[in-house]
Amino acid sequence: MWGGRFEGGPAAVMREINASLPFDKRMWRQDVAGSLAHAAMLGAQGIIADEDAAAINRGLREVAADYERDGVPDDLALEDIHMLTEARLAEKIGPAAGRLHTARSRNDQVATDFRLWVRDAIDETLAAIARLRAALLARAEEHAASVMPGFTHLQSAQPVTLGHHLMAYHEMAGRDASRLRDARARMNLCPLGSAALAGTGFPIDRHATAAALGFDGPTRNSLDSVSDRDFALDYLQAAAQCALHLSRLAEEFVLWASQPFGFVSLSDQWSTGSSIMPQKRNPDAAELVRGHAGRIVGACTSLMITMKGLPLAYSKDMQDDKPPVFEAHDLLALSLAAMTGMVESATFRTERMREVAESGFSTATDLADWLVREAGVPFREAHHVTGRAVAAAERAGVKLHELPMAELQAIDARIGEGVYEVLSVDASVRSRRSYGGTAPDQVRARIAEAREQQS
Ligand code: ARG
Repeated sequence: MWGGRFEGGPAAVMREINASLPFDKRMWRQDVAGSLAHAAMLGAQGIIADEDAAAINRGLREVAADYERDGVPDDLALEDIHMLTEARLAEKIGPAAGRLHTARSRNDQVATDFRLWVRDAIDETLAAIARLRAALLARAEEHAASVMPGFTHLQSAQPVTLGHHLMAYHEMAGRDASRLRDARARMNLCPLGSAALAGTGFPIDRHATAAALGFDGPTRNSLDSVSDRDFALDYLQAAAQCALHLSRLAEEFVLWASQPFGFVSLSDQWSTGSSIMPQKRNPDAAELVRGHAGRIVGACTSLMITMKGLPLAYSKDMQDDKPPVFEAHDLLALSLAAMTGMVESATFRTERMREVAESGFSTATDLADWLVREAGVPFREAHHVTGRAVAAAERAGVKLHELPMAELQAIDARIGEGVYEVLSVDASVRSRRSYGGTAPDQVRARIAEAREQQS
């Protein structure tokens, strides 16, 4: 493609280090789409003859059909998908193929292809997040009133409902989707026509190619257009944040599936056995979702570091932008699908959750609140009184609500019979009806709102 200036060919290792075809062939659809739009515009502007534009159009469609049927060959002599496609086009239509690259450089070409690819990746990721959110919503609805222990410091804190807990992840996944939509809107400008770095003297119509490729318009600065990989980083950062959320949910599944917790049993579909210990049922998928999050964060870090020291405009380092994005996308797609499957098919052991919620004096705050509400005790004093009641229950080896009234009144005479009504875990969660609280009514209201937004 640049033979004119050279006498010798590249060293074998030069060819190998230079080639991006082994990975960028994944963008062949976007590359063909970009070239179709570019050729049509060149024809419409009278920059190339209509017959040549028509031949290029026909030839590109044939090349695409070949790729579709046979896959994209690994021809390292042809560096990347852009050169391979042009070479294939020349085999199909002859010299007219040489007119396609008029008023274009691989720098704006690759920037355009990659934006198109990332935009598609975002659409796929959004669909996968929507499936996870639907699964979380369905299970949350089923368990809107199922009591489980809520933790802080992984110590029993206050009872909550499983539905409330699952809806917390529904919120996180909603923010992940919103970040991806923001990224998509921001990246949806077309770099094509920026050429190598300075724009072009040909009378191209960048608005036409941008519209043909579904962009909102052309990018505004040719130097920025060929140097910018923010769009890929926006995607990776949003992907990394989403992966962190999946990893936290995965971690909870791993904990919950362990024998000391026993809160969940993962379906056979999402568990593995051990080759030596016959009793085992391991949450491998959840562990891998947790593990993949590290690799996705790594991919994001990798591209940030590639970009951080690059002067304007294009440098070949930027060819390294694709492997981390492809890897992160594949890992996130797998993680989202696996998490969705686990959520849909898990059996939640609600009796066990309740039993744990009832231990650990998780309704102590309710006793303190009762003293404040019913006996006008200042909260700090109520906190102290309740602490003494907890200590007494602990000494006696009973739960808070099993302490006899005489004993409670010995601690503080202001405690009366009504207190037993608030000491059960059900009463405790029912009482937390502040907006966004864990009361089943509140959880159901948030679920209803989420359903409304979905439709
Ligand atoms: N294979 C290159 C990449 O992926 C295409 C752009 C090459 N541009 C250049 N000036 N050498 O970045």
